[in-house]
Amino acid sequence: NAPIRVGLLGAGTVGSQTARLLVEQKDELAQRIGRPIELSGIACLDPEEVDFPWIDRSLLTSDTMSVVKNADIVVELIGGTGVARTFVLEAMNNGASVVTANKALLAKYGPELYKTAEDNNVDIYFEAAVGGAIPIVRPLRESLVGDQVKDMLGIVNGTTNYILDEMTTKGLDFDVALKEAQAKGYAEADPTGDIEGYDAANKAAIMATLGFHTNVGIDDVTVEGITHITADDIAAATAEGKVVKLLAVVGKDEHGVSARVYPALIRNEHPLASVRGSFNAVFVRAEYADDLMFYGRGAGGAPTASAVVGDIVTVARHIAAGCTGPAIRMYNDYPIAPLSTS
Ligand code: HSE
Repeated sequence: NAPIRVGLLGAGTVGSQTARLLVEQKDELAQRIGRPIELSGIACLDPEEVDFPWIDRSLLTSDTMSVVKNADIVVELIGGTGVARTFVLEAMNNGASVVTANKALLAKYGPELYKTAEDNNVDIYFEAAVGGAIPIVRPLRESLVGDQVKDMLGIVNGTTNYILDEMTTKGLDFDVALKEAQAKGYAEADPTGDIEGYDAANKAAIMATLGFHTNVGIDDVTVEGITHITADDIAAATAEGKVVKLLAVVGKDEHGVSARVYPALIRNEHPLASVRGSFNAVFVRAEYADDLMFYGRGAGGAPTASAVVGDIVTVARHIAAGCTGPAIRMYNDYPIAPLSTS
């Protein structure tokens, strides 16, 4: 009953909370898995800077490759599409499974990563990459795999939803609201991607890929952010009984697949209008299941760590059982079409 070794890459907002959940729930998670799991290493840029009471300092190192090589599950929370890709590929080629929250990596290199996982007979799980704590990746990858997804409409960026909400309800300036979103741990290390819509676009690409079984990458998504939204725009929307929300819209019709992120006006009565603060929501319309709605906290350390730890436990269960979860197959080859206006 040897422990399953978990190597953590990154000790920031999500990484530190992932470590906390693993340490605080150690005994219970071992029960749920049927085998103990242990944190085998935590890679970070500067170990001297990391100071959380639940983190055993002897696990901290700036030698990321040593953590990658000494783990059964590598948890990538570094972010970005540079070194993260190297470490994730190395982990899988080394026989380790991967859990990641890195939407940018998946939206750019998804096909390569999914194939590497399949070729090496290991898992790649990424529930936290879309919608933070909300289960949406697993439903698309597993629960709805017997259905035909038609389209999805979502608020999938907590930072911009928080900013727009604060501007609407408190009349805050954009910059002040952004600073608050950063302080609460919602924004990316570089929040440009949040406010320019690219974070939501990465998530739209992942949703479309899983929902339509075709490769939709970040370059296939039409993106418009919220940096040009002014207090006057918000006031005009309010006067009309509407709110401004950054939406990700993906769909499929006879012309192909479309994916778009843009700030939209939504009537106050619409369910998406009541998605407040850092909360996210995704509507899915499927041929047989009909309408589904997923709602919850889309950003923040502990909620996102909940999704990461859920993946760690799932992968650990597979390791304990000597199996893997479903491979991600992209067999459709839909053209990327302009969004139909119907
Ligand atoms: N920066 C992201 C957001 C974090 O604001 O939603 C969750 O992916």
